[in-house]
Formats: sequence, structure tokens, C-alpha cells
Amino acid sequence: MPARKENEVVWHHATVTRERREALNRHKGVVVWFTGLSGAGKSTIAHETEERLHRLGCRTYVLDGDNVRHGLCSDLGFSAQDRRENIRRIGEMVKLFLDAGMIALTAFISPFRSDREWVRSLVGKDHFIEIYCRCPLEVCKQRDVKGMYERASRGEIKEFTGISAPYEEPVQPELVLETHLLSLEDCVAQVVSLLQRREIFTEA
Ligand code: ADX
Repeated sequence: MPARKENEVVWHHATVTRERREALNRHKGVVVWFTGLSGAGKSTIAHETEERLHRLGCRTYVLDGDNVRHGLCSDLGFSAQDRRENIRRIGEMVKLFLDAGMIALTAFISPFRSDREWVRSLVGKDHFIEIYCRCPLEVCKQRDVKGMYERASRGEIKEFTGISAPYEEPVQPELVLETHLLSLEDCVAQVVSLLQRREIFTEA
């Protein structure tokens, strides 16, 4: 595909602004970014939080690795470069969700600190809530919901996070959930109360 010159595409400004959408939604837009090892509970907590927020009348959407990698990112694998591209596309997508005034919840391993920080700066630090689902590798291996740790340990899956590829812990996440110690209900309660403290929405 030929490269496009910068000035060939001009940004079109909508008259319906993010502020007007947020006013209609009666809550602010925000990105709730769950990160952690495979099997740490990211998707489960994201979906359960969405359920709770939806019942409260919030406009929400969950994006997770297993789904997005079937469509938007189906051409990507798990090399460091592909993971970076995966997060870059997700970042651009959540920026649009934010502009739509929605609460986007994401569940990607997103193993590289620099990629997560890139998304934070893309969407603006006030709209990015990083939640670290901290779960010891041993527990994730025991859970092994998809049987992938077993296969990765046998060398059948290359570059598997925690086994043969790195995971960089967040330095200053907005919230840490010890998912091997807390119940699902407690995890969700902590996320919802954080959103309230940040005045994303008021009634609960
Ligand atoms: S990320 O590293 O690029 O953020 P992402 O969250 O999209 O990963 O996808 C992770 C999911 O893909 C895992 O939950 C697992 O089911 C599957 N998967 C397949 N191969 C790998 C691998 N090599 N490393 C990690 N996850 C993998």
C-alpha cells in the first residue's frame, strides 16, 4: 500500500462533542485497563465489573485479547513486536470509545510497561485507570483454564508470557487486585468504588 502524505487526510470535527455525549450518558468516559498474566482473572473481573456498571446505567464495553485477536488483530502473533502492535491498535480503539463517552474495560496481558504507558499518554492520564491483576505464576499454572501453561511448559507454545516471555509489573497502577486472595465480588467492589472516588459516575 503506498504511503499517504500527512496533509491528504484532514480531521473532521464532530458537532456532538465528547462532553455532550458524557452529559447524555450521565457519566464520564474512561479506560479501565486490566493487566496481568494469562489466568490472573482479567477477563472475568472486567466482565463482572461491566455487568455491575451496566445495571447502574453506564454505557460500557469490554475488549479482551481472546476476542480481539479473532478480528481486528487476527494477523498478529505473540512476538514482542506483535504484542506492541496489538496494544497500539487497542489503544487507538479505546481512544475512540473514550470520545464516545463510554467506559471501556480492557483485558489484555499487555506485558510491556512502555506499551501501557503509551496508551496512558495517548488517552490522557486522567482517563486511564490501570488495574494490576496480581496473581502468582504458580497459581495461574495450577488454574490453567485453557491448558496453555501445560503446553507452553512442554515447549508447544513459544513465547508464552510467564514461561518463555516476560511480564513487566506496573510500577504505579491505580489499583492492585490480589486475585488469588480476593473473591470476584470483592475485586469488582474495589473497581467500582475506585471509579466512584474518581467521580466517573456518582450513584451506586
Ligand atoms: S498480549 O500479550 O498481546 O497483551 P493478549 O491479551 O492479546 O496478549 O492475548 C493473550 C491470550 O492469548 C492468552 O490469554 C492466551 O489465551 C492466548 N495466547 C496464545 N499464545 C500466547 C502466548 N504465547 N503468550 C500469551 N498468551 C497467549
